[in-house]
Amino acid sequence: MYLTKEEEEILSGEYGPEYQKAMKALVKLGEAMGAKRLVSISHAHISGISYRNIGDAGLEFIEELSKVKVKVFSTCNPAGFDLEFWKFLSIPRDFFVKQLRIINALSKMGVKTACTCTPYYIREPSFGEHLAWGESSAVLYANTVYGARTNREGGPSSLFAALIGKTPYMGMHLSENRKPKIMINVEVGVEEQAYASTLGFVIGEVAKNRIPYIKIRFSSRNKLDLVKALCAGVGTSSSLPMCIIEGVSPEAKSTDLSSVEEKIRIEKRDLEKYFTKYSCNENFDAIFLGCPHLSLDEVVSVRKIVSKEKRKVKYPVFLAVSRQIYSRIPYSILEEFKKYGIAVLRDTCLVVAPLNKMKISSVATNSIKHAYYLENIHGVKVRLCKTSECLKIALGVNL
Ligand code: F3S
Repeated sequence: MYLTKEEEEILSGEYGPEYQKAMKALVKLGEAMGAKRLVSISHAHISGISYRNIGDAGLEFIEELSKVKVKVFSTCNPAGFDLEFWKFLSIPRDFFVKQLRIINALSKMGVKTACTCTPYYIREPSFGEHLAWGESSAVLYANTVYGARTNREGGPSSLFAALIGKTPYMGMHLSENRKPKIMINVEVGVEEQAYASTLGFVIGEVAKNRIPYIKIRFSSRNKLDLVKALCAGVGTSSSLPMCIIEGVSPEAKSTDLSSVEEKIRIEKRDLEKYFTKYSCNENFDAIFLGCPHLSLDEVVSVRKIVSKEKRKVKYPVFLAVSRQIYSRIPYSILEEFKKYGIAVLRDTCLVVAPLNKMKISSVATNSIKHAYYLENIHGVKVRLCKTSECLKIALGVNL
């Protein structure tokens, strides 16, 4: 792989062992994948920072690197709890202390530790911009909605890219790898999150590693919230980093469809089986909305539903948002949520939280990504249903 003089110097250790380690890893990765050089990035998003997921080995790895600073604007994914609300979530002291060490180490490096899977609400990428993002849903959203360029980085590779300010020039960074191979006609109107995320899951399953060109009718004003849910679903069932969606993706208009090898249709019945699969119907320990973290519009629509009922929730309800969105929620809405017993969490989600310690074993959610990981990682019983149904369950209103 070609390296500039400065990159060679970093590799030979002239800038210290931490940068050398990062450069070595990026060069190794690039060479293994056939990259010809590195490319400068403007934003790194570091995934895998929950102590629940990375344990002591991950903590030590991050602390070791924390003697030096990142070279570009950097953000990070959710942690194991809301950093300001942790006591109310029954988070064990040891977990709390170690998670905080991870956050402090990242902060020392200059990473913006507003822990969220929606880094695009912190800083919107621009068309053609090179990024190094971990977190599959965010990667899909960046490539699909903004036409930015990022591969699906892992936790360590996104951190190394943050330290060097560069990533191997390969995969989604190259135009030739952004061509669609499968055309998908969606023959069901998509109007809310549970269906959008499940549709994404089905798209990921049928497309596998082929970039899909998607024709779809969104029957909601908040199209981008549905695309966000769809991207999370795609990222859950496949290793795809990108979709091209007609009427959404900036690259859709100029896409040459001659690379398409197969055309398929997706109908409503293709989605229904997942609602049957995740149909737990018992007392719930939690109702979770916010995978990926909610937009302000989504928060406002939750408020609309709960304020009609004017009653306290029967089961704990958690809404997950980024700190940026939290700071924009009007005080009156936060007060109303408090009155009805709805908790608005920042920095976290249930998948990366120590659920067994929190005694959560059955959850209703509107996100297939949450349903999938709660069942597979935590052994939690799940009900997947529309946002309005999740809230009706919480409020004890007949469905
Ligand atoms: Fe975000 Fe957690 Fe879902 S990190 S995308 S809310 S699983």
